[in-house]
Amino acid sequence: MKSKVLLMGKSSAGKTSMRSIIFANYIARDTMRLGATIDVEHSHVRFLGNLVLNLWDCGGQASFMENYFTSQREHIFKNVEVLIYVFDVQSDTKSDDIAEYTSCLEAIREFSPDAKVFCLVHKMDLIPVDQRDAVFAERSEELQVLSEGLSIACHPTSIWDETLYRAWSAIVYSLIPNISVLEAHLENFCEMCEADEVVLFERATFLVISHATRKTHHDEHRFEKISNSLKSYKLCCSKSMTQFDSIEIRNSKFAAFLDKFTSNTCIMVIMSDPTVSPTAMDINIQVAKSHFE
Ligand code: GTP
Repeated sequence: MKSKVLLMGKSSAGKTSMRSIIFANYIARDTMRLGATIDVEHSHVRFLGNLVLNLWDCGGQASFMENYFTSQREHIFKNVEVLIYVFDVQSDTKSDDIAEYTSCLEAIREFSPDAKVFCLVHKMDLIPVDQRDAVFAERSEELQVLSEGLSIACHPTSIWDETLYRAWSAIVYSLIPNISVLEAHLENFCEMCEADEVVLFERATFLVISHATRKTHHDEHRFEKISNSLKSYKLCCSKSMTQFDSIEIRNSKFAAFLDKFTSNTCIMVIMSDPTVSPTAMDINIQVAKSHFE
């Protein structure tokens, strides 16, 4: 099953940077060396069994944008499942950006009216921390109005923190078929293990696919923080030509286990009981696998 995902926005908004960090193991600093994307760069990312993301990274220079809306219009905009539109929050050409976004929506309404639209208000690290919420609220309100009639979600993002993982997890989540079946299995597993929480990650990207929670937790950003940390750890390991299969963290209050799960996922189980045996947890995870494959 191939899902066409369009990644659009003006030149230098940060499209290729985010794609390279999530899917090609770049670190944020490496993106400073990226050149402008010429026309459209296609990549196919296998994600969860038979779900393949067919990612179209559309170079944002004005001449390319013009072609997308004219000669390449149908080719670019038909059969789109998700449109990701990236806005540079500090852009000095805001009205042009809005005009291009509006043209893009016109084409989406014409060729893929059921597409889901994700607007990423990007480079939020450049906005002072105390102004971020207000700036994002204002931008997303404006975008919601422009996008009337379409299914749209806005996210604040930056390649320099975990917000990128939150946004991309939401994007990928929206594409997973039969997600409710997966979620029901995860709920059952969490209940049977008497775990506080169980989280399912895609194995290559560490994007969160789903989670089941029995004990409420105050930090609503914990999932993307874990994704970000695991990805950094994976990159550190690969620098020293090693890789990890599983992780166990234990202190006086909890125990956490991360293990490979199905061929495309890994699972994290959080237990309030810090004395729980790793062997018991391993057996539980092995037994559950077949229900998720
Ligand atoms: P085109 O290929 O021309 O369409 O540009 P693009 O949207 O793919 O931009 P690209 O990813 O090449 O990024 C342009 C510059 O923005 C690079 O120098 C990145 O390092 C920088 N950049 C990307 N994301 C961020 C971010 O979140 N914050 C900051 N401060 N800089 C970013």
